[in-house]
Amino acid sequence: MEHVKFTEMKQGDAEDYEFLHPLEVEYAKEVGERIFDSLSDLESSFSGYQISRLGHSVQSATRAWRDGADVDWVVCALLHDIGDVQAPYNHGEYAALVMEPFMREQCVWTTQVHADFQKYYYAHKVGGDQNTRDKFRDHIYFDDCVDFCELWDQASFDPAYDDLPLEFFRPLVMEVFSREPYDPDVLRPGAREPLVNDAVAAQRKQAA
Ligand SMILES: [Fe+2]
Ligand SMILES: [Fe+2]
Repeated sequence: MEHVKFTEMKQGDAEDYEFLHPLEVEYAKEVGERIFDSLSDLESSFSGYQISRLGHSVQSATRAWRDGADVDWVVCALLHDIGDVQAPYNHGEYAALVMEPFMREQCVWTTQVHADFQKYYYAHKVGGDQNTRDKFRDHIYFDDCVDFCELWDQASFDPAYDDLPLEFFRPLVMEVFSREPYDPDVLRPGAREPLVNDAVAAQRKQAA
């Protein structure tokens, strides 16, 4: 069997759907590769800044790595703006949906709402509300998103910064997206891991 017999799904029989299932599982396994490759689309997504959106993403991830952040945080920093290409009005939500089956809830939530937290740095300068983020003030991950923006997101527009190469992050992306989807031991609702781990940061600095 090379393909299903049906032309409308309602015509499909058990043989058709049993044939499709392993193909879908196999395709889903390669999602990490596809996501990593799609990062190149960020190279041309925005103009006007001193670095590209891809440069900003790599710089955010580099800072996270050098701060000793764990793999979820580093991949979160790398992917937080992937929605800019196809979802410019809700790019955080877009990226969060991509991450949701494979990453800690803390990082997914931070990604989902980071655009409102970024407003703290510019909205009041153009007549907007700097404190849009305050609607999340009581959320368990509020402080984490504040730190994410302060340490990595708003800080990563510097063409002179010594970024790690994009390829450095490929194995980390593969690690995350080869996890069992929706594994409770990965999602860990309510768990808060630090963005900065000085001991790990020192180890990585020594190994570099
Ligand atoms: Fe963003
Ligand atoms: Fe960003």
